[in-house]
Amino acid sequence: MTTDISRLVIAIDGPAGSGKSTIASQVAEKINGRKLDTGAIYRSFALYAASLGITDYENTDWNDVVKGFHLEFKTGGEIILNGRSITDEIRTPDNASAASRIAVIPQVRAALMDIQRTLALPGPTVCEGRDMGSVVFPDAPWKFFLTATPEVRARRRFLELSEKGSSVTYEEVLEQQIERDKRDSERDVAPLKPTSDAEIIDSSIMSIPAVVSLILSKLKINN
Ligand code: DC
Repeated sequence: MTTDISRLVIAIDGPAGSGKSTIASQVAEKINGRKLDTGAIYRSFALYAASLGITDYENTDWNDVVKGFHLEFKTGGEIILNGRSITDEIRTPDNASAASRIAVIPQVRAALMDIQRTLALPGPTVCEGRDMGSVVFPDAPWKFFLTATPEVRARRRFLELSEKGSSVTYEEVLEQQIERDKRDSERDVAPLKPTSDAEIIDSSIMSIPAVVSLILSKLKINN
């Protein structure tokens, strides 16, 4: 039987620094598919809210705000928000923290859901985030949950940020990450946690190529 791959979603969830982004990119490349980085959507939305001067997240009409939010992912990885390139700007630790804070608001999550589902088409698309397998694509035929120890994850993020010239210390990265993990996994709506049908992979004890191979071995797509 041939599967209609144009609608297929491969869900990869996990905490910050678990290797989701690199692994999702490599899997997408191997299957001639695309990657959807949903963390980038939350990060872009947080940046957009900041540009509008919104600080009181609780008392904002988010349905109204989202109407002016137009995001585009270019093939080379560039992210365009309302005509402006924000690719690097969304990656700062402060914006990551703002994204995590805005992501607890149920109205924001609901508003961004349609955008994520639309951007995932056409497939096959490797969608990475926190609630891909649980909420956004609950029918995804493949679900993976990546983990790694907090120290390994913080070390990866620290190296990534240092390479980009950031002066942030490892201790600061670890502290912000612990705070973000706690918020992302304890929120009421769509908390970060593996679904019962997800394959859990610990990337602190496996290399990136080994994780990619493991995921590819589970995908049986008839192209
Ligand atoms: O994957 P990331 O670190 O770029 O994500 C930034 C924040 O966005 C994360 O701390 C929580 C939020 N997020 C979310 O709530 N749901 C997603 N599917 C993806 C990200």
